Amino acid sequence: LTATWDIEAAEKGGYPHFMLKEIFEQPSAFSNTVSPRLRDGKIDLGIELTDEQLKNFKQIHIVACGTAMHAGIVGRYLIEKLARIPVNVDVASEFRYRDPILNKEDLVIIISQSGETADTLAAMRLAKKHGAHTLAVVNVVGSSIAREADSVLYTWAGPEIAVASTKAYTVQLSVMYLLAFKLGLCKGTLSQADAVALIDELAGIPVQLQSILGHAEEYKAIAEKYCHAEDMFFIGRGLDYALSQEGSLKLKEISYIHSEAYAAGELKHGTISLITDGVPVIALATQQRLCEKMVSNIKEVKARGADVLFICYEGYGDCSEFADSVIALPQSNDLFAPLLSIIPMQLFAYYVALLKGCDVDKPRNLAKSVTVE
Ligand code: G6P
Repeated sequence: LTATWDIEAAEKGGYPHFMLKEIFEQPSAFSNTVSPRLRDGKIDLGIELTDEQLKNFKQIHIVACGTAMHAGIVGRYLIEKLARIPVNVDVASEFRYRDPILNKEDLVIIISQSGETADTLAAMRLAKKHGAHTLAVVNVVGSSIAREADSVLYTWAGPEIAVASTKAYTVQLSVMYLLAFKLGLCKGTLSQADAVALIDELAGIPVQLQSILGHAEEYKAIAEKYCHAEDMFFIGRGLDYALSQEGSLKLKEISYIHSEAYAAGELKHGTISLITDGVPVIALATQQRLCEKMVSNIKEVKARGADVLFICYEGYGDCSEFADSVIALPQSNDLFAPLLSIIPMQLFAYYVALLKGCDVDKPRNLAKSVTVE
């Protein structure tokens, strides 16, 4: 008797790569993380902090590395918008050495998939030393960060094997939404009725994720068009800028294409000089109140020869004047757009890397967990 499969193939569950499997696991990872914390339209984070304590935090710091830090950037938008508490986001390697101003009334949110990243762990220890309350958002149960934090909010993504983080990011985002809602309720900046409506929408996200995943072949065809590029630029405003940073990181991590993310309004202060004939620009425009501004930025790059891949909601209307390719997302509340737009960006990076013959799950020079400085 000969076995025609090996253990790794079995673990991939029929997918050619862990990354693809993990991208497709996002609807269930999301439900597993969010559902247990929602009861009768109420949020139970399952942490020891009382509503009174949550209400009294004067300042929040979010500290993390890599993809987890990008989840923190989205977290800042959400918390500042819904709870009106000032939030700083820092990469852990900077935070730990810049003598940050930390007070006992501060909440320090540490985000880490592995719970073992050396800089993140050191940053958390520093925050604790200053008497701030540390709240860890961690995926690996019992990891160092989870053990040492004052409070832990586990993400339930399950094991993430591919070096490039996908499902861990999405569940980190889901926790940022829950936290922002909860803080908004405690602060009184979010009404119970609005919270119920938002919670309802959040609970419906897995269905939307599933439907976007059904378009994978479309994103593959778009990847075929762009996979020979040497440089790519991602642009966006607000939450779209936050997502652009993660989209750009995914692409460079696994496809080795030089890529950068810019706040669209900042292009004119330098980067636009790099836009020449045929340079791909991936432009995200899901934030209605910023769409018009985005379109004028896109026209600026288009006028310099850029090949524009436009990511917007379906029903946007005619964008043929400035877009060379379009990815349309199902209509949603703008606040939830990051949870949707990340899927095409992950799949785009995956297919570009695949078409270039890269080792998708184990990109060169990168490690899943960086436990040394
Ligand atoms: C490494 C990984 C990244 C990850 C970062 C932070 O660089 O390659 O994918 O985002 O570490 O890891 P953590 O486990 O702390 O989330």
